[in-house]
Amino acid sequence: MALTDCKIIDLPKISDPRGNLTFIEGDRHIPFDIKRVYYLYDIPGGAERGAHGHRKLEQFIVSMSGSFDVILDDGYQTRTIHMNRSYYGLYVSPMMWRDITNVSSGAVLMVLASEVYDENDYFRDYDLFLQAVREKGGV
Ligand code: TYD
Repeated sequence: MALTDCKIIDLPKISDPRGNLTFIEGDRHIPFDIKRVYYLYDIPGGAERGAHGHRKLEQFIVSMSGSFDVILDDGYQTRTIHMNRSYYGLYVSPMMWRDITNVSSGAVLMVLASEVYDENDYFRDYDLFLQAVREKGGV
């Protein structure tokens, strides 16, 4: 998959003086059915998350609070996306290395995932990820 497959998706926002409301329906607002939700919180200053890729998993990342950067790498190019609002999210396609950096204090990152957790779906080694990208791309 190429970096262009990854995109910011704006979510519905019901603005209200009592507080805003945003919702996400799988296969409607995001391009996959949601099988799992997880979130990262209590992240210490300077910590970096991510640093892996997935073979098949699709994900949608939302900043529920605070801000952070997601660095996407398709094996050829990288792109950095700053996340700091709860009314949009980042769709991350399969075969995409991601690093999460510059997490603000108190940030909460929610991730919607297309599959249940499966360690066999991970690339934990960047060189193996690159090798798989080259094999798939035939380059
Ligand atoms: P990991 O996906 O590496 O976290 P991050 O990308 O945010 O740095 O997961 C960290 C640990 O948590 C790892 O041991 C696997 C475990 N884990 C689960 O058991 N279930 C899950 O749904 C997720 C996302 C992680």
